[in-house]
Amino acid sequence: MSALAELYQKIEACRDCEELARNRTKVVPGEGAENAQIVFIGEAPGFHEDQQGRPFVGQAGQFLDYLLKSINLTRNDVYICNVIKCRPPENRDPLPIEINNCQKWLNLQIELISPKVIVTLGRYSLAKFFPGESISKVHGKERKKDNTIYYPMYHPAAALHQQSLRQTIEADMQNIPAILARIDEIQEEESKPQQLSMF
Ligand code: URA
Repeated sequence: MSALAELYQKIEACRDCEELARNRTKVVPGEGAENAQIVFIGEAPGFHEDQQGRPFVGQAGQFLDYLLKSINLTRNDVYICNVIKCRPPENRDPLPIEINNCQKWLNLQIELISPKVIVTLGRYSLAKFFPGESISKVHGKERKKDNTIYYPMYHPAAALHQQSLRQTIEADMQNIPAILARIDEIQEEESKPQQLSMF
């Protein structure tokens, strides 16, 4: 069994959030390529995800599939998961305690997959890596931290509620191929020692 499959078993057995464990149909650990270079992290499973145990399979997921296709990627090329792995009742926002309880799983996933690029989808995912930052200011701008490239985007569901964001999300997605093409260059820039000037 792969390390990721073993991790899924542990996530599926987790009952750290009593209310979420009691109400869930299925846990939604995540899915995709174990050696993916790029990981997309959403917020929390919704109704359809909870039914199927798979991330992003509802309306927002259909839009995510469309966005991936627009840059010639499929779900098999990437890894997709969420900040929390169980559906909050009535799709309420995740609570800080739930995010905190669940972060060990996301951290382990990231450690195992070791992606070069992490795309945060929405404000909860952004807040995990860059607390206090505003998505309206940072979306569509890549940045490096600890030798990983982060690329914040609005959540695909935002396009369903607010038509004006759809174009922004589509345009932000179009920058990803260039980031993937420059991964080595971007990471080298980070590790290259600063040249000391003689003068
Ligand atoms: N929204 C999310 O953030 N994640 C999903 O898996 C589905 C919808």
